[in-house]
Amino acid sequence: MNVYDSARMADVMAPVGYVATDVADDADLVILNTCHIREKAAEKVYSELGRLRPKKEDGTMIAVAGCVAQAEGDEILRRAPYVDLVVGPQSYHRLPKLVADATAENKSSGRSRVVDTDFPAESKFDFMPAVQSSGPSAFLTIQEGCDKFCAFCVVPYTRGGEFSRPVEAVLTEADQLVGNGATEITLLGQNVNAYHGDDQGLAGLIRKLANIEGLERIRYTTSHPRDMNLDLIAVHGEIPELMPYLHLPIQSGSDAILARMNRKHGADDYLKIIDALRVARPDIALSSDFIVGHPGESDADFEATMALIKKVEYAQAYSFKYSKRPGTPASDMDDQIPEDVKSERLAALQNLLNQQQITFNEQTVGSSIPVLFERRGKLPNQIVGRSPYMQAVHVSCVDAAAADRYLGKIMPVRITGAFANSLAGNLDDEVVAETTKMEPARA
Ligand code: 5AD
Ligand code: SF4
Repeated sequence: MNVYDSARMADVMAPVGYVATDVADDADLVILNTCHIREKAAEKVYSELGRLRPKKEDGTMIAVAGCVAQAEGDEILRRAPYVDLVVGPQSYHRLPKLVADATAENKSSGRSRVVDTDFPAESKFDFMPAVQSSGPSAFLTIQEGCDKFCAFCVVPYTRGGEFSRPVEAVLTEADQLVGNGATEITLLGQNVNAYHGDDQGLAGLIRKLANIEGLERIRYTTSHPRDMNLDLIAVHGEIPELMPYLHLPIQSGSDAILARMNRKHGADDYLKIIDALRVARPDIALSSDFIVGHPGESDADFEATMALIKKVEYAQAYSFKYSKRPGTPASDMDDQIPEDVKSERLAALQNLLNQQQITFNEQTVGSSIPVLFERRGKLPNQIVGRSPYMQAVHVSCVDAAAADRYLGKIMPVRITGAFANSLAGNLDDEVVAETTKMEPARA
């Protein structure tokens, strides 16, 4: 979501003359877009700010955006007084004005401290310009915020309550993205499957999006098991554009810990959803998030998580040590787990997940799978894309012209090698023959 937000901030700043650059040294304005989900992410902001500080001498303006800005606005100005501007995630549409205010303050007093961490009554989405550009695979935020209040999580406090963009606005933006060259759209939301901007929820939106010509792949992330309704499960069997891959976090496989986490469902409820998804779409692959060492997690609770992972067999998953977040109920629970126990459990869990990921990747060797090519690779004439299951796939083309031709396209690829985090393959024989025909110089 921060990738999407950063792109939209660039769009908002374009009319007032700002152009995005990848090189911080070139920038007149540096915006750190930050994450507050775990302590490590939040602390990184301060070390990054320290590194940026010398740039102030050249007159560079430094801004902090995102959830750390929202949660720690005043703390940021205290710890890094050279920051010019702090802007929360709901105020990005106001950036041009905020930057102008900060510039004016700097001129008049040599120092600015502009802070906007409101939850404005107006929706920022109504004030943002049309999307300016898009790669083959685009993000589209359709929902923000969360009302679930999991005991460990800061999101309901930093991003606020649940909000869904109206279906018309989403369809308009999807049209713009496809017009700009997107073939794949990933719908985003902290609780994306709670989307209610369409009468039929996320299922209804996906059905409508599937009618957009040129949009060949649809994904959505991140979902909560409680909002995985029957209609949404049915859509997985019904809409071929909806990719057979779902990120559905469970966090823990222990009912006792799920209750402590306030997840409002048990491990069995989750397994039933997975079964139903596999009936609807037999080739669906699954991903999840796991937290180890949540307050109260016993050895037996942890083993229940390991057992659930073995049952589901994930294609991929993210896992984290529980991190205390200020203001959340779990941070005040008295049975906190020692750091070394968390580390041990995380290592065991990641070992299992890595094995499953390698097994999943190895299963694709020898088969032909459609790959959407998104960018050039590190090697000459190499291109990199994604399989329907989100695996990165590396392919070498006959020459640079072929590489350029395939970018942005979905092509069948024969998989020849599987690694922990990627696949290698060749464009299918037929395609290679086509290419050779089209390039007489090589015939
Ligand atoms: N500690 C560790 N992991 C967390 N997550 C959310 N809050 C915490 C926390 N306090 C993880 C969850 C969530 C993912 C985005 O981040 O697994 O699904
Ligand atoms: Fe956080 Fe997700 Fe729980 Fe909402 S549903 S509180 S975003 S973990």
